[in-house]
Amino acid sequence: MAKKGILISFEGGEGGGKTTQIVRIRERLAQAGRDVVAVREPGGTAVGEQIREVVLSSKNTGISFTTEVLLFQAARAQIYREIVIPSLKAGKVVLMDRTRDSSVVYQGVVRKFGKELIEQLNNISTQNTYPDLTFLLDVPVETGLDRRAKSGEVNRLDMEAKNFHEQVREAYLDLAREDKTGRWVIIDARKPLEVVEEEIWQKVEEELSTK
Ligand code: TYD
Repeated sequence: MAKKGILISFEGGEGGGKTTQIVRIRERLAQAGRDVVAVREPGGTAVGEQIREVVLSSKNTGISFTTEVLLFQAARAQIYREIVIPSLKAGKVVLMDRTRDSSVVYQGVVRKFGKELIEQLNNISTQNTYPDLTFLLDVPVETGLDRRAKSGEVNRLDMEAKNFHEQVREAYLDLAREDKTGRWVIIDARKPLEVVEEEIWQKVEEELSTK
């Protein structure tokens, strides 16, 4: 794919502050004169938001893991075709609140579908698109769940046992540490918001300067 823009993803377990940081980084990019688009997965498109409702609703306790795998991929296929790929072709900076690595961690490792299978599906959904930069906002599980409880938003996966969230955290750290592409940046998200924002911004500026 002829790609001129920059794709930056934010990943991590519950309560790492991804959404807050994306708002801040988006603002700073806009101030720096960049054309910026921010989206979340699952969701981000009209069809994707409907899929989000199905896959995350706490009412849908009967959803099978296989259905879950495919629904996340379906939402992804839509957002890459409708927003991500066209935006990158137009030279924009695209910020994503979760993308392919969420499926590798949650469905590939924790739900045990295997990383290889999930990456194959990811490649179909994204048309082989990878982030240029991926921030892992890492917090201990207790801290993350505490923050999440205070925010009052609880989805179907948040209701999983603590052990599930421990596995999510470890899987993310493994993925980031095993990475050979240099796209992963591990951020200690226990730090104050402003400090985390500054760390992210420095990396983003570095990335922008190389393009
Ligand atoms: P969301 O409400 O967006 O919360 P947050 O990103 O702040 O945790 O929840 C998205 C949930 O969906 C989250 O529990 C992770 C899960 N998820 C997957 O399991 N696989 C995926 O591919 C994606 C994109 C998300």
